[in-house]
Amino acid sequence: MSRAGDLPKERGSFEETVPLSDLRRLDRHVLETIRQAVSSVIDSGWYVHGVEHEAFQKEFAAYCGADLCIGVANGTDAIEIALRSVGVRPGDQVVTVANAGFYTSTAARAIGAVPVYVDIDATLNMSVESLDRTLRETPGVKAVVLTHLYGQLANVTEIKGITDRHGIVLVEDCAQAHGAVFDGRKAGSFGQVASFSFYPTKNLGCMGDGGAVVTSDPEIAERAKRYSQYGWGKKYEVIEAGGRNSRLDEMQAAVLRVKLRSLDAWNARRRQIVKAYVEASAANRIVWPHDPASSSYVGHLCIAIPPDRDAFVEHMRSYGIATAVHYPISDFDQPAYLAQFERRPELPMTDQAIRTIVTLPCFPELTDQEVDRVCQALAKISS
Ligand SMILES: Cc1ncc(COP(=O)(O)O)c(C=O)c1O
Repeated sequence: MSRAGDLPKERGSFEETVPLSDLRRLDRHVLETIRQAVSSVIDSGWYVHGVEHEAFQKEFAAYCGADLCIGVANGTDAIEIALRSVGVRPGDQVVTVANAGFYTSTAARAIGAVPVYVDIDATLNMSVESLDRTLRETPGVKAVVLTHLYGQLANVTEIKGITDRHGIVLVEDCAQAHGAVFDGRKAGSFGQVASFSFYPTKNLGCMGDGGAVVTSDPEIAERAKRYSQYGWGKKYEVIEAGGRNSRLDEMQAAVLRVKLRSLDAWNARRRQIVKAYVEASAANRIVWPHDPASSSYVGHLCIAIPPDRDAFVEHMRSYGIATAVHYPISDFDQPAYLAQFERRPELPMTDQAIRTIVTLPCFPELTDQEVDRVCQALAKISS
């Protein structure tokens, strides 16, 4: 790591920070197409559950290799509605990881279900061994929520085998993994049901909030549709208790339909950026938990594990490069829920990851010059 004495001459000469994200840089042609699509929605006078929503649901299901998609208001609602749709009820146990930003915990808690946390492996996703052990030791688990964190598909085929053996439902949380592929299958097509977020910074993001539930099971889809609209079977008739209003509106659906056409190209650019970082740091001891050559990784967040995080962050700052930590607090350490645990879960890999991970800039619109600057900074790290 460079010390004060051998800092680069350029230090302090960077007028602009290389940001973690900048949504204003959206491709001009894509932006113009979105403006026209949104303008058509405005002119149509139909703003909720119309032709754009209907078309997006079909197009996104097809993209994911699933039969059905239900647009909802955001990714957290999508997890909650998916869980309700597979029969999770108050008091049920839902197994998940504790390093993924508390979104699944929020959804499970909203139902009154109890999250049970398992450890992660070197890819920072759910550990197969930890899941298997937990399911053998914990009777009565209703569902597993498998988050494909940072854009990296988890070991989903093995995990599906385990949940099937235990007769437990697998819900994939794909909020960070739109378009990730393993064995010719896309994120969201492995479990009984999947959730997506279209928060603006996601690999597929709208211009506001949005989300989706994806499944090939028509009964799950039917229930998800009901839960997303007051529990209605038909208009004004509530046949499902626990329903709510969670809808993807026409403007967001129109935005998503335009952006979906560029998703694969944007994912490829994200992988290219991470590849450049990995190659630039070949001579030092930074650990890169994800392989940018693999289509099972779509570079939602570029995670590095440097030997000394504080020194690394300071070094990158001296090159005008933004960094962050996703996420700095495990689910079981969140202040509002501390009282819920008789004792703190022992998940050593989770604790270690939270202490050591750091996020680097990675979004499709980063310029080559910005990527080069990050590479230069990485190459200057000596240990
Ligand atoms: C892994 C994961 N799951 C769920 C969510 C929740 O999505 P939303 O912010 O749209 O509610 C997010 C996004 O922020 C996420 O990153």
